[in-house]
Amino acid sequence: MSGDPYGDRGNKDATIVNPRGTGTAQPVKGGSAKAAPNGPFLIGETMTGGYGNGPDILHDCTISVEKGEIAVIVGPNGAGKSTAMKAIFGMLDLRAGHVRLDGEDITALSPQARVAKGMGFVPQTSNIFTSMTVEENLEMGAFIRTDDFSGTMEQIFDLFPILREKRRQPAGELSGGQRQQVAVGRALMTQPKLLMLDEPTAGVSPIVMDELFERIIDVARTGIPVLMVEQNARQALEIADKGYVMVQGANAYTGTGKELLADEDVRKSFLGG
Ligand SMILES: Nc1ncnc2c1ncn2[C@@H]1O[C@H](COP(=O)(O)OP(=O)(O)O)[C@@H](O)[C@H]1O
Ligand SMILES: [Mg+2]
Repeated sequence: MSGDPYGDRGNKDATIVNPRGTGTAQPVKGGSAKAAPNGPFLIGETMTGGYGNGPDILHDCTISVEKGEIAVIVGPNGAGKSTAMKAIFGMLDLRAGHVRLDGEDITALSPQARVAKGMGFVPQTSNIFTSMTVEENLEMGAFIRTDDFSGTMEQIFDLFPILREKRRQPAGELSGGQRQQVAVGRALMTQPKLLMLDEPTAGVSPIVMDELFERIIDVARTGIPVLMVEQNARQALEIADKGYVMVQGANAYTGTGKELLADEDVRKSFLGG
């Protein structure tokens, strides 16, 4: 398939994508929204801010992802990667900068309103309800939907077959990799236009990591752009269309995944040589 960066890997079923997310840019309605028809699909632009009245954690940080792309943020512990994700999702008040989704300025919106706009976010911690079954977790994920979501659940079971098998088990009984599948599945239940993942492979074995990355590629191939933070920097950059190295709340290096993997400074400082 020409123009498909992921070749013939993964499933080709694009129906998990919400129709509203697959077309051309949506017209912007009302409010202070500013159209940016040629801008990136999602951008957190020159973001500066911190927690509550505390010091700034992010300094002029810019992260963007285009339709059809996987963008990856890497960087040392405490660099502000999760903070950048939370800022994009609206869990942090920015002192400067903007967040735009599909041409619309969403900087002032609550996280809930951003979900309604098409953002799916899987946080780094506490991303599932451990006492609920797999199926209940997925149902909770569909909380904003008023239509029949059983078809979406079937698609998620097709993407993550182990979840179908364990649908009646409490999610807390699953392995680390399986729990991450529940968390990603939960976010997909809203039929997001965009998926944001904070360390989806944390604490899993290399084999499970590879498998999770394959599934994330599958999701991206269905047309849902993916923005993710990863501590497995080298492996994540291998599947990244675009990569960001963050240091102390700021952009240190930006490039294609390949460029960053080939960059000597990036290799030495962040990829272990
Ligand atoms: N809820 C919070 N309240 C105050 N400071 C926080 C909070 N979460 C993270 N921080 C601080 O923000 C900085 C960046 O943390 P974080 O974004 O979690 O980094 P990373 O995800 O890159 O490891 C750290 O100094 C951390 O202590
Ligand atoms: Mg983090």
